[in-house]
Amino acid sequence: MCGITARVGPGEAVPELLSGLENLEYRGYDSAGIATRNGRGIDLVKREGEIDELRGAIEKRPPQGSVGVGHTRWSTHGPPSDANAHPHADCTGQVAVVHNGIIDNHERLRAELDSHEFTSETDTEVVPHLIEEYLSDGDSPGEAFRRAIDRLSGSYAIAAVFDSTDTVFGSRNGSPLVLGRASDRYYLASDVPAFLEYTDEVVYLEDGDVVALSPDGYTITDAGGKQVDREIETVDWEPADVGKGGYDHYMLKEIHEQPAALRQTIRGRTDLLAGRAELEEFPPESFSDVDVVHLVAMGTSYHAALYAQSLFASRGVAAQTFLSGEYATNPPSVDEETLVVAVSQSGETADTLAAIRSIHGTGARTLAVTNVVGSTLTRECEDTIYIRAGPEIGVAATKSFSSQVATLSLLCERVSQDTDGATPTATSELFESLAALPDHVQQVLDESDAETVASTYRNSDSYFFIGRGVGHAVALEGALKFKEITYDHAEGFSAAELKHGPLALVTESTPVFAISVDPEDTKTLHNVKEVRARGAPVVAVAPEGSTNLAAYADHLLELPKTHPDVAGILANVQLQLVSYHAADQLSRPIDKPRNLAKSVTVE
Ligand code: G6P
Repeated sequence: MCGITARVGPGEAVPELLSGLENLEYRGYDSAGIATRNGRGIDLVKREGEIDELRGAIEKRPPQGSVGVGHTRWSTHGPPSDANAHPHADCTGQVAVVHNGIIDNHERLRAELDSHEFTSETDTEVVPHLIEEYLSDGDSPGEAFRRAIDRLSGSYAIAAVFDSTDTVFGSRNGSPLVLGRASDRYYLASDVPAFLEYTDEVVYLEDGDVVALSPDGYTITDAGGKQVDREIETVDWEPADVGKGGYDHYMLKEIHEQPAALRQTIRGRTDLLAGRAELEEFPPESFSDVDVVHLVAMGTSYHAALYAQSLFASRGVAAQTFLSGEYATNPPSVDEETLVVAVSQSGETADTLAAIRSIHGTGARTLAVTNVVGSTLTRECEDTIYIRAGPEIGVAATKSFSSQVATLSLLCERVSQDTDGATPTATSELFESLAALPDHVQQVLDESDAETVASTYRNSDSYFFIGRGVGHAVALEGALKFKEITYDHAEGFSAAELKHGPLALVTESTPVFAISVDPEDTKTLHNVKEVRARGAPVVAVAPEGSTNLAAYADHLLELPKTHPDVAGILANVQLQLVSYHAADQLSRPIDKPRNLAKSVTVE
């Protein structure tokens, strides 16, 4: 939900601000803008539309100066338009502000600032006008910025550039803001990819921090105004990780990165001889007090959590998955024996953060399973396990799902061994399948018939996805991916639910994707016969040797033979490819589906 960036240092700011915004475009892409300090005042250019529109406008009238801020927007207050695009300036043009988040008390502040001329419908615009008020009281830019920030309630990451100083000010509360430190320049951004090309040294700011960034250095003061030192960390992502690497879309690149990502996820985390998971931070017995597991997540992460719920259940560990947004509003009862696992690629999803905050103080143990080092979730939870998938830019999550499921399956092994001691034989089969998973994913990528399937059914009315157990989670994820990027109607169901309603919608124009992880799965076979009897085409996504299912299906997307707990990840890769090719054949904007954003930082 919106990406912000700022830059100070020698040379022109615009090229680096623009490349930063391009790398943050996954956070929002309905309008964008840049403001720089040109030595005489502030140059401000903003445009409705994607960053290319802004680039076009900038070519005609390039903003000058070495200090500036930038923004790419996902609208919350006011539709996409030039006027509502950020940065927003005060009445006099002394300050320009970019913001990610929602300012809850903006209406009251706007009423208070009734002598000011507002030019947008945004909540953000109160900030430059507040700063203007304080500047007119005689405050310095730093003092005016701090006073304005202290008036805000809600969530924000904010950066401001002034005409009177080469210092940029930033602050965060509930929305991410990272500082990048290079040898002779500094950056602020919603996420590291914005400046990864220029530096890998980062400081993760904390809620309430105000940072002053000048060409000579930076200072951070905490919510109480006290100067603080925050640790400088080095990120291990490469600049090339955030490019398209020769693929047409980030989504396709990330689908193809799954073998490498999974190798990273699993590396060093299994002990085949001892038949156990080796999660670095969690030696055996770490979870012996756990009585019940709650998994909280949204979107694709929710489906990875549902997948894990099936794995926990099959090992006799009580586990329940919740949409984070529901968990926060209707909290179930928890106690010291509850392990609450928050699953989030970004570690910044507002609903998931709210779910974790809702159980602070209850004694429940919290664990983040995330991709992003230093994300807010890692600070809200007691412990963290990283999925190590590498940067994911495509709005439609792909490799993060595979790495989340692989990580959660290791966690599941650890918890089940700690709580009731699973047999090493059962787990060693699973570990062998996990070790083979990267190669099996590669095989699916090399041999998949998904493109043909996508083109065969491209004129259908609706697409259904069915499965049981982990196959149910994959069915939901398959349908989510399909609708997100093709804009066609797609629904996922438990195959068990089919006869209780959805079957009424099954016709010869509703292809049914039937996911099965076990060649002996007779129940899904029966469901397939039922939809075939109603004339629906069937695409089976099933392991080698599923001869019965294959006999009733119009197409088979085959999976290499493996442990059923792992086969769902392979099935999901097949469905990612189907969605990708279907969307590509429809010429959809695959990496930037309408109305969506990758990181949903508002509830
Ligand atoms: C948005 C994104 C999805 C993502 C979900 C949860 O809806 O478009 O791709 O799965 O948020 O995000 P998280 O970062 O918490 O996994």
